[in-house]
Amino acid sequence: MILVAGSSNLDFVVQAHHIPAPGETVLGRDFKTFPGGKGANQAVASARAGGVATSFLTAMGNDTFADPIETSLHEASVLTHIVRSEDQPTGTAFICVSDDAENAITVAPGANLALQAEHLPNLQGISHLLMQLEIPLATVAAYAGAARQQGVCVVLNAAPVQELPAALLESIDVLVVNEGELATLSRHNGTVAECLERIAVPTVVVTLGHRGSCARLNGTFLVQPAYPITPIDTTAAGDTFCGSLVAALSLGLTMRQALQSAGAAGALACTRLGAQSSIPKMAEVADFLARQPAASADALDTLGAYCGLPAGTYS
Ligand code: RIB
Repeated sequence: MILVAGSSNLDFVVQAHHIPAPGETVLGRDFKTFPGGKGANQAVASARAGGVATSFLTAMGNDTFADPIETSLHEASVLTHIVRSEDQPTGTAFICVSDDAENAITVAPGANLALQAEHLPNLQGISHLLMQLEIPLATVAAYAGAARQQGVCVVLNAAPVQELPAALLESIDVLVVNEGELATLSRHNGTVAECLERIAVPTVVVTLGHRGSCARLNGTFLVQPAYPITPIDTTAAGDTFCGSLVAALSLGLTMRQALQSAGAAGALACTRLGAQSSIPKMAEVADFLARQPAASADALDTLGAYCGLPAGTYS
């Protein structure tokens, strides 16, 4: 079984021509709410990817904002362990989505900060623990340490990015980041490959938006070009990638296969509005992948060059 531990938010979303600059007011269009939160999104993505069962440890308030998130988790067949905060509201996120599918997100963490070290359930039967950084860093570090001690594979999506203590880094088996997060964590202003080399975690995966993804597994590099789509809303694309990646790894697929299914799921999530509402099911991902041609040598080389990888050093 996969355990996801992390945040639950109710997303308040408005679409507008563009994301406001500091000091600017933009007139948007319809307003909608969606179940979100990086933790809950990744749990839904893992469950919809199929295969291994997914459970989710989170904290929510004793309020009506929690209801649609719980309904979404249950509809996706996620098993939930919910810590109920009596004095903090369920987390919320305020999201502007622009007509070119970009977003700007501000999170009010609320009850997410109530998730503490003592809330970790028994890890018996758990093969993978997947976490993000919308809950207290001390909680993430405690869960990672406990999981590592019990032989559970620890996967961290370091978003929103912050400095990671050395003890936490030592407990991580797979780190998943986007390009900006990679630059911050590596403290290096160089190529993707150079940044990947500087992070002391056995496997690091970087998502590269419309370009695709790149993984460093110990000393070897894999590049995976993106699949072409017309994006509507990129919210939760990274979460979909993470949940699908861990689901694939838990099924014993290779990292190449995991990058392909995670890339396809993340691409499909960009074609629909909202967070959990946009996450595809396994059958849809399989159907989409079956219609994609194999990546050409040119596409691999273009991505390899973008990452700063010399020819012959990646596959
Ligand atoms: O990654 C997207 C998510 O970030 C949103 O659902 C929002 O809740 C924030 O946590």
